Amino acid sequence: MDSIVVRGNGPLSGQIPIAGAKNACLALMPATLLSDEPLTLTNAPRLSDIRTMTELLASLGAEVTALQEGKVLATSCHGEINPVADYEIVRKMRASNLVLGPLLARLGHAVVSLPGGCAIGARPMDIHVDALAALGAEIELKDGYLHAEAKGGLKGATHEMRFASVGATENFLMAASLAKGTSVLKNAAREPEIVDLAKCLRAMGAQIEGDGTSEIVIEGKDRLHGATHPVVADRIELGTYMLAPAICGGEVECLGGRIDLLESFCEKLDAAGISVEQTHTGLKVARKNGRIRAVDVTTEPFPGFPTDLQAQMMALLCTAEGTSVLEEKIFENRFMHAPELVRMGANIDVHGGHATVHGVEKLKGAPVMATDLRASVSLILAGLAAEGETVVSRVYHLDRGYERVEEKLAGVGAHIERVKAS
Ligand code: EPZ
Repeated sequence: MDSIVVRGNGPLSGQIPIAGAKNACLALMPATLLSDEPLTLTNAPRLSDIRTMTELLASLGAEVTALQEGKVLATSCHGEINPVADYEIVRKMRASNLVLGPLLARLGHAVVSLPGGCAIGARPMDIHVDALAALGAEIELKDGYLHAEAKGGLKGATHEMRFASVGATENFLMAASLAKGTSVLKNAAREPEIVDLAKCLRAMGAQIEGDGTSEIVIEGKDRLHGATHPVVADRIELGTYMLAPAICGGEVECLGGRIDLLESFCEKLDAAGISVEQTHTGLKVARKNGRIRAVDVTTEPFPGFPTDLQAQMMALLCTAEGTSVLEEKIFENRFMHAPELVRMGANIDVHGGHATVHGVEKLKGAPVMATDLRASVSLILAGLAAEGETVVSRVYHLDRGYERVEEKLAGVGAHIERVKAS
């Protein structure tokens, strides 16, 4: 297993290109199941999760061809479709559950393995099941698989979700696009990735309004046609790289960054003493002089502070002046980066869903272990400003969600390299 070696190397400067959003692309790719015409995705990120989704779609009979070194995904699904999403692939990536809605809509039945838990939580699928059942699907759990049936096809309906689940919103949007009649989804997730999926579905001929708000109205169509759609910029990669100059000092411009993707995150950076400026090419981030200030953070569904940036924000707050309290309200076990940061000299107390971070002057490099995607990058950020050398092991977690992280950070002056497993 590869590891990444980081050495504190002073302030950063330069530009970092932001790739297409992993969490948008993983919802856009299954949309190809909704039509027998080609769907082309541009600005696609080059990540192992995208390769896993490609493998899953191929197992269902869809074709995904990576063009231009993977930045363009040419997809189609016009032949025989296999309705079974196998556990061997689904267990590798929870987002595999996003084929459930499209398979049901296209075929009227689907057999999708439950993804099983992951490091950050149990991650059940009850909200997905309730939402699709509202459209007339009969879904039962057998031998670890969800067996879904919609005799006579899906029918439009009004449904209110108990929680604004991102994935359940995406499954409902894709299923309702081919249902008979009108559907209204209440308490819908509002993330930019939902808006991006709705844009793509409209380009395919779907009739969807209200995406980005908590009530989305979908007029079902008999069929959808092909389209070409650009994947929206990755706001989590953006926020991650904005924290590099915040932690090290200096000034970095994140190309393609937009403030509207991360308003609550930018408000917290401002409160901590970090300046963020929207330029016509991206977001310019600079650390004002002096130590950053402690801030409290609570993760919430969009437009609240993103849970996917909680670990990275904690890395910043480890050396803030004062005490910060981070409350994780989305996942039940998303502080696994805390003990690794403590190994680097951080002073963090974790109790249930709260982590209290008492700022220290400096962190010290140490061997640390990545436990999940966002935890791994928070350790790299911490290593950028730590005294001495930090070795982050198990970086396969990192490669799921970050393209060429060592190149992008080295490009703005970080001392970082990947050590290939022998
Ligand atoms: C998406 O996961 C993202 N993944 C996650 O990013 C992100 O953390 C999450 O949304 C929240 O923003 C992708 O888009 C591929 P949810 P998703 O359904 O859709 C519970 C990353 O690092 N829940 O909004 O799975 C669930 O257990 C990943 O890129 C149920 O209880 O998130 C969790 O506690 C990590 N029942 C909470 O809701 C359900 O049926 C949020 O889940 C569904 C979810």
